[in-house]
Amino acid sequence: MARPVIWIPRRLSDATLERAQATYDCIINWDDTESTADRIVEMSARADGIIPCHSEHFTAQVAGRLNARLKIIANHSVGVDHCDLPALKARGIAVTNTPDVLSDATAEIAMLLMLGAARRAVEGDRIVRTGAWDFWSPGFMVGKQVTGARLGIIGMGRVGRAFAAKARGFGMEIHYHNRSRLIPDQEQGAVFHDTVDDLLGVADFLSLHCPATPETTGLMNAERFALLPDGAVVVNTARGALIDETALLAALSAGKLTAAGLDCYVREPGGNPGFAAHDNIFMLPHIGSATVQTRDAMGFRALDNLDAFFRGDDPKDLL
Ligand code: 8YV
Repeated sequence: MARPVIWIPRRLSDATLERAQATYDCIINWDDTESTADRIVEMSARADGIIPCHSEHFTAQVAGRLNARLKIIANHSVGVDHCDLPALKARGIAVTNTPDVLSDATAEIAMLLMLGAARRAVEGDRIVRTGAWDFWSPGFMVGKQVTGARLGIIGMGRVGRAFAAKARGFGMEIHYHNRSRLIPDQEQGAVFHDTVDDLLGVADFLSLHCPATPETTGLMNAERFALLPDGAVVVNTARGALIDETALLAALSAGKLTAAGLDCYVREPGGNPGFAAHDNIFMLPHIGSATVQTRDAMGFRALDNLDAFFRGDDPKDLL
């Protein structure tokens, strides 16, 4: 039987590409550029499977135009908000993702953002780097202490739980909201709040770990920022769509929030130019899962899903 043809629209890790090429006839976009809707539609006529990243958008409109040759979209991501799942399902296209393997890497970035935002990393780095550090006093660059503070987590899935585990090492008191309460073994003493609003009241630090869906778009809006304790710090490593960025800026400017740590933005790539003037926003360019180890694990997980599919089995991460 001829080997299936797989389109790989982004430059995945070397180990992933090597393994993919050993099993499949691969069409690789070595230029690593983002693909337009037309390009995705065009490639669906040339490939049996695709390994896209979150940068390739399979909207309902694109799904409707895909060629019948395409049988599986094996995402190289845990988030699938770039895929219209009902529309793809209606076309009979299997969709998978890569859970588990990126939880620790993403939780590390959440920790970096939380600490950096709380302890004024942007400002401190700039002052030393530019030679502007000409003063010291006990009141100089005083930040907000993480150790012992209350951490509110929205979305206690794999990444949320990995972050909670790391935050326990900082002596934080963990509170969370999730669609359903976790079993005690997973809860590890964290306090469940059955509504987001209830959680916000205790979240000295708030970290978002839920998927972007129509229900969670704009989850953190002006009303919700107002419910946080004064001086709270907000961290987002999930998706930009969860935060109303205008409301976030207003809450920071009003002093309601001390700081924010962001890895995700409504507009990506690019971010929000309005954030640049604010030293109390510690920003990274969507690199939550960007470690050598995790990129390989994501690529291999996507390939495991493809392998199962083309063997005729149900892929482990079929959505
Ligand atoms: C990835 C992510 O970098 O997995 C996700 O949902 O947002 C990131 O970890 C990206 O999606 C890679 O495709």
